[in-house]
Amino acid sequence: MATLRSLSSLPATASRSLLRTPSATTPLARSAAAACLQVQQRRHDSAPAYGKPTTVIPSWGYYKSKKSGDSNKVFSYFMVGSMGVLSAAAAKATVQDFLVNMSASADVLAMAKVEVALGTIPEGKNVVIKWRGKPVFIRHRTSDEIDEANNINISSLRDPQADEDRVKKPEWLVMIGVCTHLGCVPIGEAGDYGGWFCPCHGSHYDISGRIRKGPAPLNLEIPEYDFPTDDTLVIG
Ligand code: FES
Repeated sequence: MATLRSLSSLPATASRSLLRTPSATTPLARSAAAACLQVQQRRHDSAPAYGKPTTVIPSWGYYKSKKSGDSNKVFSYFMVGSMGVLSAAAAKATVQDFLVNMSASADVLAMAKVEVALGTIPEGKNVVIKWRGKPVFIRHRTSDEIDEANNINISSLRDPQADEDRVKKPEWLVMIGVCTHLGCVPIGEAGDYGGWFCPCHGSHYDISGRIRKGPAPLNLEIPEYDFPTDDTLVIG
């Protein structure tokens, strides 16, 4: 057996030579040489021929879609659209959570209310209080001032607004004291219309806080407020 193994490792020409030699005429030697030739022939047959491709490319047909191209496109568009919607929803939720987290909590906002005793403000006088870092004008208007605020052609105003839409009680005018031009604090009981005057660039507001002259584009802003009792004003 060891002889057969050693013979099979010989080159083919050596095996044939061995068969032709007189010493190889014994049956055992001849059968060993023949077996050696068979082994070498099998090796030769299984070896790749020159120029024959040695790489076999597998078929991908199993993985290919059996549906039409249009159907595949519809599916692709659906998936892209769905992922876009989901991403937008996730981004919105993240931003919303962040903003809610950063905003003031309800207890902080509750503390931001300001209560004013109206009995301390005489008729025809202004009071300025600070609310959430801004000045707030409170004017106890006279009946003449109320009439003046109502006797006007609304359509002629730059920011048309009726006086009754700016007050909850005609005698109490409550406004944020920030000029709507560039944010200065107007002066009370001044200007061409007997209301407020902003000296920064010359905006005139009337006795209802509506812009009448100058560069400011809008009326003075009205904050949230309420009258829990006849004598109490709560801003915020
Ligand atoms: S800021 Fe008031 S007029 Fe400019």
